[in-house]
Amino acid sequence: MGSQEQTTLATQNQLFYGTFVYPKTLTDLKYLHNTAVAVDQNGTIVAIERDYDLSQAAITLFPCLGWAPDSVSIHSSLASHNQFFFPGFIDTHLHAPQYPNVGIFGKSTLLDWLETYTFPLEASLSDPAKARTVYNRVIRKTLSHGTTCAAYYATKDVTTTNLLADLCLRAGQRALVGRVCMDQLSPKYYRDASAADSVAATRESITYIQSIDPTGAIVRPVITPRFAPSCSAPLMAELGKLAAETGLPVQTHISENEGEIALVKEMFPAKKIGAKGDTYTHVYDTFGLLTDKTILAHGVHLSEEEVQIIKARGSKVSHCPCSNSALTSGAARVRWLLERGIEVGLGTDMSGGYSPSVLEMARQAALVSRHVAMGCAPAEKENKGEKESKAGTEGKTNKDGNSEKESKANKANKDGIDRERAKLTVEEVLYLATKGGAELVGMKGKVGGFEVGMEWDAQLIGLGRDVVDEEYEGEEKEEEGNVDVFGWESWPNKVAKWLFNGDDRNTRKVWVKGRLVHERK
Ligand code: GUN
Ligand code: FE
Repeated sequence: MGSQEQTTLATQNQLFYGTFVYPKTLTDLKYLHNTAVAVDQNGTIVAIERDYDLSQAAITLFPCLGWAPDSVSIHSSLASHNQFFFPGFIDTHLHAPQYPNVGIFGKSTLLDWLETYTFPLEASLSDPAKARTVYNRVIRKTLSHGTTCAAYYATKDVTTTNLLADLCLRAGQRALVGRVCMDQLSPKYYRDASAADSVAATRESITYIQSIDPTGAIVRPVITPRFAPSCSAPLMAELGKLAAETGLPVQTHISENEGEIALVKEMFPAKKIGAKGDTYTHVYDTFGLLTDKTILAHGVHLSEEEVQIIKARGSKVSHCPCSNSALTSGAARVRWLLERGIEVGLGTDMSGGYSPSVLEMARQAALVSRHVAMGCAPAEKENKGEKESKAGTEGKTNKDGNSEKESKANKANKDGIDRERAKLTVEEVLYLATKGGAELVGMKGKVGGFEVGMEWDAQLIGLGRDVVDEEYEGEEKEEEGNVDVFGWESWPNKVAKWLFNGDDRNTRKVWVKGRLVHERK
């Protein structure tokens, strides 16, 4: 689609009709059928009529809205093709310049991956022509997978960071765009010359991004200290002040990998920086970087104490299951975070993660939560280690008169039942992909669902026609995607099949703020 022309197209009043699926709460996925959703020229949902007869719209609905019937464009989901409207996905953490490297990580882990693959590629994207090619592609690719809003890291280069914001605005993808701050750790060729330079370049990029979209409806700047090891204490302190001064969001990485955590401990001992404690979280907190608009990517190895600080500051966590598995960072405990009141969204973290799809992240979040249930989370392993070292007392009798062997079995059983709670359901991971993500990017109540007053950031999902007779299906059926619906499935089961086997072939159309930004021909 020619996105240049798209920006000049005024959005008209629109009526969407058919089946709508959206998360109401973490556990409650709503299904509305024969429903009409009216979206005005600004892309705002102005009316929702359930169990509605579409033929009545011109008589009953449009006059109420003051709409001339022939000015309204009507879009229906096709029941025959198992279509439904779903909120757009929100990718709460990804690196646009790393997109050419998706799938290229070998057996590396975070710190050597950064050195080997990531810094050289990011540095090369200061070339505007190369950046334009890569950034246009990552925007088109993520839109085609239904990502209507993305929290992007760019690079340390101001010109091409600003270009990323230009391209998002033109394509109509909502974005937080961050110029990456880093005045230490990385090689000289890809490092800010000083903390002052880093802050000045950040201010320059903020000013530009705010100038191209003054209301911030589509693109907004985000303060982006890469991660603690690549920022000096003075730089983090200045960025914390900048966040307080501007009220802008902050994004960074936290507690992703054990080597990284050890490095942070070594580089920023509490005594040296005047922190109240000796954890990764204390470092950011000391410099004012934990606000209620802070997105913390990963959080795999956070402790109870750290989560309490994050909760108190209102900061949020972007769960990046694909990246955490690919770089063997660990299994993040999402249930544990949610139970502590932390708001969680999903991040592809390309190219730590290899997939551009938030649907794939939802699927992997479901699987990783099952690994946590099997005892694979770092904290779980520590507990297990403790338990095992206390074992070796088999055959003895404990004070309750039970054999040690028996009480060990009971304990293992109880631990297993406790861990069962870790499993995330279809409804929960789809919440994280949409409404949960909206909380992270500062769009709570605006996107991530279908309610009057919210904006129309949506996808039309099509699972294809029911499988009738394999002999007559042929290649056309394959074009419809990877999900096979037979016609007897309930709606929750159709959605589960989409989660686990769907892909971009099912993403038929995508809208942001009422504007069509992707269509699969
Ligand atoms: N920590 C610092 N930089 C990066 C990055 O680019 N990706 C990931 N996953 N972690 C980081
Ligand atoms: Fe990342």
